[in-house]
Amino acid sequence: METNPSPLRLHVQLGERSYPILIGSGVLSSASEHLRALQPSQVVLVTHPRLAEWYGEPLRHSLEQEGIPAYMLTVPPGERTKRWEVVGRLLRQMAQLALDRRCIVVALGGGVIGDLAGFVAACYLRGVRYVQIPTTLLAQVDSSVGGKTGVNLPEGKNLVGAFHQPVLVLIDTDTLKTLSRRHFRAGLAEVLKYGIIADETLWRLVNAEANSLRQCHSTHLAEIIYRCCEIKANIVSEDETEQGVRAILNFGHTVGHALEAVAGYGRLLHGEAVSIGMVSAALVGEATGVTPAGTAEEIARALRALGLPVALPRDVEFDGLLAVMARDKKARDGQVRFVLIERIGQARLPVAVNEKEVLHALMMHRERFHREAMSWKTVGQS
Ligand code: GLY
Repeated sequence: METNPSPLRLHVQLGERSYPILIGSGVLSSASEHLRALQPSQVVLVTHPRLAEWYGEPLRHSLEQEGIPAYMLTVPPGERTKRWEVVGRLLRQMAQLALDRRCIVVALGGGVIGDLAGFVAACYLRGVRYVQIPTTLLAQVDSSVGGKTGVNLPEGKNLVGAFHQPVLVLIDTDTLKTLSRRHFRAGLAEVLKYGIIADETLWRLVNAEANSLRQCHSTHLAEIIYRCCEIKANIVSEDETEQGVRAILNFGHTVGHALEAVAGYGRLLHGEAVSIGMVSAALVGEATGVTPAGTAEEIARALRALGLPVALPRDVEFDGLLAVMARDKKARDGQVRFVLIERIGQARLPVAVNEKEVLHALMMHRERFHREAMSWKTVGQS
């Protein structure tokens, strides 16, 4: 029988709320053992229908075989699922199943499932345990680690939520084989982000592997995911609730979140929006003298090589974008804030940037990258 190599292991150090992250091929096959070790009274898997069939049912079955009552709750895939009404529905289903305080919620899916199921776990009976089993690259390198949970409101992204840490994160790199190219590449934007903000060696590795990564594979994939999780784990251990250094993880997100909101959630994938937003942020940095000239072009080159969009969509209106940025939960007194980089591998805590400078950077962005600008409809279809 073929055996999977031992997974790579990391720890998010948060005192009594510390938890391990296991990364490797075939990790899912031992998920029921890891869950059993946590001694749950019941397990509820939150996922979407296709993942329920591929991974959820086998896991539910092995939990049942071990005598652990296990249930599956499914929601439709996509960002539109991350809303208040769906939280209410899931909470009621959990109450109808009479899940008690020792139950464990398992978030099996991408960032949407993780944020939603994590939030449900944070609310149900004033908080129950949950385990993250991320199945997209974006969720594996970012959203499954660090305990940010929540949902969107029509007024803005992630406006409701809670910090609620998982008790375990299981990252099975095999699940990425069934991910669409578009979703895989969107995750690469967050991977590159870690290199840009904190690790020049990772930046160089991702650039060297760009051809393979663009085709959704790399012999260095587990190592790359490990390094991203390690950076995130260190940052979260130092600043769980984003009072300081954790904010650097939002590099590219000021414009990125605004693009997502203006486009309508789900039209532009989060990673695609962050990809474009990182170029904007580098241009803001160049315009304000924090970032060396030419860095935005260097970042755009790396993103393009990974198959990611870098230009502002043709039909985006700056007024709309600025209005959303000023409402963003990271804005203060209506002042837009940006994480800027001092060089590749070194980010600075967010600073307020005045509207004139943001507008100037957006105009530069449009001017320099106009040839590759797409309309909303074609974004992500390369
Ligand atoms: N995704 C950014 C954070 O978890 O802080």
